[in-house]
Amino acid sequence: MNRNIIVLDTTLRDGEQVPGAKLNVQQKIEFAQQLKRLNVDIIEAGFPASSAGDFQAVQEIVRTVGDKVSITALARAVKNDIDAVYESIKLAQHPFIHIVLGTSNIHVDKKFNRSKEAVMQMGVDAVKYAKTLLPEVQYSTEDASRSDFEYLWQTIEAVVKAGATIINVPDTVGYAVPEEFGELIRKINERLKNLNGKVILSVHCHNDLGLATANTLSAIHNGADKIEVTINGLGERAGNTSLEEVVMGLKVRENYYGCTTNIQTTELLKTSRLLTHLTGLDVQVNKAITGENAFAHSSGIHQDGLLKDRQVYEIMTPEEVGGESMELILTARSGRHAFKNAVEKMGFDVSNAEDFEVLFGKFLALADAKKEVYDHDVFYLVTNHRTMDESASGHLYELESFQVVTNDLYPTATVKLKKGSEVYKDSAVGDGPVDALYSVLKSLVGLDVQLKDYKINSLSRGKEAVGRVNIRVEHQGKIYSGRAMDTDIIKASALAFLNGINAVLLDASADASGSAPAAK
Ligand code: KIV
Ligand code: ZN
Repeated sequence: MNRNIIVLDTTLRDGEQVPGAKLNVQQKIEFAQQLKRLNVDIIEAGFPASSAGDFQAVQEIVRTVGDKVSITALARAVKNDIDAVYESIKLAQHPFIHIVLGTSNIHVDKKFNRSKEAVMQMGVDAVKYAKTLLPEVQYSTEDASRSDFEYLWQTIEAVVKAGATIINVPDTVGYAVPEEFGELIRKINERLKNLNGKVILSVHCHNDLGLATANTLSAIHNGADKIEVTINGLGERAGNTSLEEVVMGLKVRENYYGCTTNIQTTELLKTSRLLTHLTGLDVQVNKAITGENAFAHSSGIHQDGLLKDRQVYEIMTPEEVGGESMELILTARSGRHAFKNAVEKMGFDVSNAEDFEVLFGKFLALADAKKEVYDHDVFYLVTNHRTMDESASGHLYELESFQVVTNDLYPTATVKLKKGSEVYKDSAVGDGPVDALYSVLKSLVGLDVQLKDYKINSLSRGKEAVGRVNIRVEHQGKIYSGRAMDTDIIKASALAFLNGINAVLLDASADASGSAPAAK
């Protein structure tokens, strides 16, 4: 009989640790709703002790999807972190606490500077404390793949005896290779079954050697019942295991693995694209399952074979991953139904009828002005609409007008901004037009930010430009990103920068209104 593999999506926790991938609360909720449609079993919603904003975002995710999807969040093995997780997830239907503590010599010696016994005791105490709050507790033996096996096992045995119900074995630094990692999981699984057959064995891999999917599949083959993955493989450094790759690997090769998942695979592309839109981080074109070319056949021999029978060169169909819905070009005559379909296809929630009517009005205005409306227009329309409330509340910047003069002596920018009823204007010179523009914007908003990255790209049909920036807030060291689209490249650049600044303000206001227990 097939085994069902439990899928935990950690895009909103491990994925969000990527510089520039920070989402605001509204975006996290949008993405969590899509994860619900994808039918993941568990969402790891964040690391609530890290900031009041993260704490609040986890609470909001619980409120929005916690009735249907199991929710967890990360804690280090300290009381404050565990309290923050409990307080943020306790209203979910199936909440559990996730504790992480290292087991490798390098973690024990260098990170904690304590004896192995003392570190293990910290883990046991943390589990015992978490069990006083919730019945389900997951324990992650960080850097497990570089740990001394007997110490790793002693830790697992001790935390299971203390009450841990899920043991998660991470390849934290992407060091493992498939045969070795599979063997590690086989050994742990064998002992765990003898110790307590009810405990779930889970794995969490990183992709530093490009082996995260292979390692995860090898672990499943050797007994792991739960996997931790992210959409598009987003995550620290080279990323985490990609959800879509493992899920489709299990589906296409069910004859080999004998495993299934609850994932609604027809939602995969939509979820991937939503994440790309929200984070601005593109997927490589040849990425398995979700890359633009994943189902494109260009050679004559392949095209000929496909026309005879798709199975000649296709092991899965684009339809299985939701690829049948080609982009439709909308016009003012497309009507409500077609527009709603386009918005839903991007992964946005349109269940609020009143809100949808307002959005539809904006679409008609855009369609009148542009004549043809593409997917990227729809995306910017929806995201701008969803942040409108914030600008209306008067604490975000809006671009009122600008003028940029470029020459080889003094490129100059003059900008007028609005925030609530306040108006700000000034001019600056720079090394070039964009430098002048960003200098004046920086001085107008009065934030000590550093431009880390700036890109301007034309969209496929060439009329619009998308500006993207990453800015670092100096006193926090945090990176925020902003994007914007316009037919004028200077305006797209200005709006992208301003959206980055607004992301800083949104984060600060979330932190100010949240109430997480302080992190240690
Ligand atoms: O990579 C890692 O070890 C982690 C743990 C918190 C599971 O992300
Ligand atoms: Zn990780």
